Amino acid sequence: MGQPQRLEASMTEKGYVPVYATGVVEQPWDDYSDTDHQVWAELFRRQREILPGRACREFLDAQDIMGMSADAIPKFSELNEVLREATGWTLVGVEGLLPELDFFQLLANRQFPVTWWIRKPEQLDYIAEPDLFHDLFGHVPLLMNPVFADYMAAYGRGGVKAHGIGPEALSQLTRLYWYTVEFGLINTDEGLRIYGAGIVSSKGESIHCLESDAPNRIGFDLERIMRTQYRIDTYQKTYFVIDSYDQLFDATRPDFTPIYERVAALDNVPAGNVLDTDRVFNRGTGEGWADGGDV
Ligand SMILES: [Fe+2]
Repeated sequence: MGQPQRLEASMTEKGYVPVYATGVVEQPWDDYSDTDHQVWAELFRRQREILPGRACREFLDAQDIMGMSADAIPKFSELNEVLREATGWTLVGVEGLLPELDFFQLLANRQFPVTWWIRKPEQLDYIAEPDLFHDLFGHVPLLMNPVFADYMAAYGRGGVKAHGIGPEALSQLTRLYWYTVEFGLINTDEGLRIYGAGIVSSKGESIHCLESDAPNRIGFDLERIMRTQYRIDTYQKTYFVIDSYDQLFDATRPDFTPIYERVAALDNVPAGNVLDTDRVFNRGTGEGWADGGDV
């Protein structure tokens, strides 16, 4: 495997990180060290200890069905047998963040890019770039859910289209990904639960997003989200709550072109603001919020 070539910076949930030029790679499973497997084991155990009762049931069930465990870093090839059968998705190994259009095209083809390498032991709580733990533990389980799987593919098709429209459309679409796929909450009979990958792969935010009084928790609204700035350096000031995965998928049915134009004509909403039209589950106290820094 050649050295990845870093091309440019891209905004992620953890700040600006380099985008790699390399495409899809084989997962070099035999090359993982004991330390790599131990890091996976520790993170896996730690999250599975706190996620029951916080993460949505589909997420935890899917991890079990896929055979993810603390024993060892899972093999993409083995997960793919289960995933392909369930929803037609496959995982592909990558060196890191891909250029936007490549990422969208993979999703549109029901292929999910998973970073093959895992963080170091000293990075258990913080790493700037998405690694194997974030991608695999956080994103992959919900690809087992047929409706969510369709939503992700629709998002990819939407991304390819937005890429052709321009940066404003892309930025609005990125906010949708941010507030759903990465930081989404779902309202269930048992209470609010986490489904966002950025939350379930972080111990601190898994607790904060549900139990802290500081953040807003607001009902999902597509155009509201597309106007809303977010945080890349701290926990989110606002989480958006869906009622079902169908609601998410239905929201992506319409042609977004007129929506992009409508939203572009409105002001951005700062990350922590609550609007009169919001369906408010919790109005945040704003405790501990940093001034400025919304993107
Ligand atoms: Fe992610």
